[in-house]
Amino acid sequence: MSISIIGRSIEESATLLLNETAAILKAKGEPIIHLGGGEPKSRTPIDAITSFTGLINSGEIRYTPVDGTVEMKQAIIRYTEEYYDRKVAPENVIASSGAKQSIMVALQAILDPQDEVIFPAPYWVSYPEMVKLCGAIPVPVHPEDGTFYPRMQDIEMNFTSYTKAIILNSPNNPTGAIYSDEFIADVVSFCEKNDLYLIMDDIYHRLCFNGKKPANCYKYAKNLDENSKIILVNSVSKQYAMTGFRIGWAVANKKLIEVMSNIQGHQTAGPPVLMQKAAIGAITGVQSGVESLRLTLENNRNVMMDRLNGFDGVRPTKPDGTFYVFADFSPYDKNSTRLSKFLLDKVRVLTMPGIEFGLDGYLRLSTCGSINDIIEGIERIKWALDLNSPNELYIGERKLVRDWL
Ligand SMILES: Cc1ncc(COP(=O)(O)O)c(C=O)c1O
Repeated sequence: MSISIIGRSIEESATLLLNETAAILKAKGEPIIHLGGGEPKSRTPIDAITSFTGLINSGEIRYTPVDGTVEMKQAIIRYTEEYYDRKVAPENVIASSGAKQSIMVALQAILDPQDEVIFPAPYWVSYPEMVKLCGAIPVPVHPEDGTFYPRMQDIEMNFTSYTKAIILNSPNNPTGAIYSDEFIADVVSFCEKNDLYLIMDDIYHRLCFNGKKPANCYKYAKNLDENSKIILVNSVSKQYAMTGFRIGWAVANKKLIEVMSNIQGHQTAGPPVLMQKAAIGAITGVQSGVESLRLTLENNRNVMMDRLNGFDGVRPTKPDGTFYVFADFSPYDKNSTRLSKFLLDKVRVLTMPGIEFGLDGYLRLSTCGSINDIIEGIERIKWALDLNSPNELYIGERKLVRDWL
């Protein structure tokens, strides 16, 4: 069978595969604990539901403009003004089917084959594959000091005449790191100086802890006219726990939004109108749900950190935001794919292998579930790996005997 070069270059998503395996096991009645998830468990905001049902009851569900309805754009404009202190025009905005599509069409709009895109590692799993889908080259940058906080010199060292764009994601998936204001300011001016696009993937920006706040990229830009190359991406997925609605957006210069809309128009056309309605409800409605989610996640993070700190050999880094803890399990196994499969197989705990995010030896543990899931999940992992734990473990009625150490 003949498959394109690009098609062949795209990796299967190991995270989706692991999720599927866990779902199959769960459907068979296996006592799975899901520490792999990338979606909060809170309910859809009531304002989203009301908005959605109002429209579906009308029975008039049609196409919308490719770049979103007028009302959707107004909601995004208000959001940008409120959280970024920046007033933009409707032509500066595109709504897409998730932040994922906004990032994808942005990359398709700006990249030529062989162009290079720099992003710090660890990174969100889709960045390298999205860049490859454009025939371009992903350039993950591992901070030389071994931390999760890239420095300007790490970026500069990877900059070439082929570099077209930089992607930053802060707070970061998978580490939860919030990059310093100084770093963001330096990257913004580096991009302006070298005429590079800067994609700011801010989808976790309201899910931060201990009063920390990620930098507002616009604050550091000298040029905010229609030549600005900043592309700001956001979404209802994480902050409103609306992953299934698939609505995200980008804010950028008018010319670029026009090109992104042309591309999106031939891919999916406008995002589903019902989902836009629901997203408008969430963005313009009561915001207390975001704060209560943030508080729950902060508490979950504290419980997870507490448990991991009492786990010999595991080195977790305290996240400042998101709902992930990225922990170094390399003293137990340097191969994170093998370790993750082992934990699912032996103690039915789903974790995400760090190699998928560009760093082997680590596991990404999600704090989206209940406190019980976190406590029991870490307990099971500890039992499976730590020689000092008793030889037997009960999961409900089931007795497990450790016969692999
Ligand atoms: C960093 C990052 N960007 C983008 C996305 C995609 O978000 P959406 O659900 O809006 O497509 C995710 C989802 O996991 C993510 O973690």
